[in-house]
Amino acid sequence: MSQEDTFKKIISHAKEYGFIFQSSEIYDGLSAVYDYGQLGAELKNNIKSYWWKSMVMLHENIVGIDSAIFMHPTVWKASGHVDAFNDPLIDNKDSKKRYRADVLIEDYIQKIEAKIDKEITKAQKRFGDSFDEKQFRETNPRVQANQKKIDDVLLRFKTAMENDDLAEVKKIIEDAEIACPVSGSRNWTDVRQFNLMFDTKLGSVNDDASTIYLRPETAQGIFVNYLNVQKSGRLNLPFGIAQIGKAFRNEIVARQFIFRMREFEQMEMQYFIQPGTEKKWFETWKEKRMKWHKALGNDESNLKFHDHDKLAHYANAATDIEFKFPFGFKELEGIHSRTDFDLGQHQKFSGKKIQYFDNERNESYVPYVLETSIGLDRMFLAVLSASYKEETIEKEDGKKDQRVVLAIPPALAPIQLAVLPLVKKDGLPDKAREIINTLKFDFNCHYEEKDSIGRRYRRQDAIGTPYAITVDHETLENNTVTIRDRDTMEQNRVKIEELPEILRSKVSLNSLLKKLEN
Ligand code: GAP
Repeated sequence: MSQEDTFKKIISHAKEYGFIFQSSEIYDGLSAVYDYGQLGAELKNNIKSYWWKSMVMLHENIVGIDSAIFMHPTVWKASGHVDAFNDPLIDNKDSKKRYRADVLIEDYIQKIEAKIDKEITKAQKRFGDSFDEKQFRETNPRVQANQKKIDDVLLRFKTAMENDDLAEVKKIIEDAEIACPVSGSRNWTDVRQFNLMFDTKLGSVNDDASTIYLRPETAQGIFVNYLNVQKSGRLNLPFGIAQIGKAFRNEIVARQFIFRMREFEQMEMQYFIQPGTEKKWFETWKEKRMKWHKALGNDESNLKFHDHDKLAHYANAATDIEFKFPFGFKELEGIHSRTDFDLGQHQKFSGKKIQYFDNERNESYVPYVLETSIGLDRMFLAVLSASYKEETIEKEDGKKDQRVVLAIPPALAPIQLAVLPLVKKDGLPDKAREIINTLKFDFNCHYEEKDSIGRRYRRQDAIGTPYAITVDHETLENNTVTIRDRDTMEQNRVKIEELPEILRSKVSLNSLLKKLEN
């Protein structure tokens, strides 16, 4: 199955089972805005809990806040978002479609890379075990010519963006003969900068002074509260402030489902540190964050760091944790050493002293900041795509069958336990409900009595329920049930009284969090 097909299947699976719906679908939807359904909301909450607890509960020097979406407009002037939070956009005059110029160039490069990959696969087949990819890349004329095209375009684009030379960006698109995917024409407008912030008006006065923005990142809510939190919490450096919340960006190209949305959620943590210690903390947080991802049992080859070559003007180190989404490796989380840029800017624009008195050094300074920033929706997509599996299984009668299973890490699963009476009579439903009534305070349980037991298991597999217990006639005799494991499909008979302990050891967030401490 191609990656594209897998991705389409994941998207329709997410809709069919109540994870994600297009926003306002009955009105044909709203582009790049999505709603989380009954199971999606549970999974999202579990991801949030995992992140929040790993930050706030496991670190005695990290506290969490919940700041407002609307902020004073000067915040965005100070942060640089009003002047520089732009994407270069270009329109095709024939199709009237709008594109991000950098994405058009990125797609062009990907096409050439695909050509190189094709050459390599062909040569690999021809030469077998003796094939040396490095040597082939260095000597094959076609590969070399294509690689040169990529290098030339990348260099020109990087220089053009550094010099804010939008005419050159257009020239690159023309020289590379990039055509509009819709009209097929190369009839382009000039490239313009487009600010990604949504604006709106505060109160009833409709003038420029009342323009405010929907926050494009949650981080600024943390920066402007630095003094409040530090003072009220009597915190000493180093300490962190964590926050989960909505962010809004008027993305020009909104595609790839919940990967790039116009309304999304971020989980951000700003770690305030002594100047000069940022390299150490950068390494520490790189390691901690990668551990957080790997504790979920993710295939390690799905995750990698991608260090930034070109740093933003305020950063002195930055890396992305990239995840292998069905459409390739893409940014999932950013880890940035932001120096004293943000607090320094807010100090300048607000006229308030935003400093820390360091008793050890006996001096005051603007703290440096180490940021970890992960998109909650992207994390959701990473969990969903890593979990989606189509399997061929053998039934008891020896026949083959297909199942779709979401192998979601048990601690994140929307429903942790399905309780299934074997038949709808003989007192089995009452017994099943009795079991739920004792377990529902600790576990998210789901009762289901419709359809054959086999079909009910399939349905629970498809929504990622890690355990299902079946209440049968033997249950009434000796208070035992069968517990079925989603991944191995093995069934064991256990005493009802043992269920809380069995479940706790397998589905509780604690077991996941403990992995972070080792
Ligand atoms: N405070 C730093 C910051 O906002 P960013 O790289 O722009 O940095 C951080 O965003 C994370 O937010 C990204 O790694 C990504 O996971 C998520 N993100 C950014 N834009 C997004 C969008 N349009 N849709 C969904 N997630 C997005």
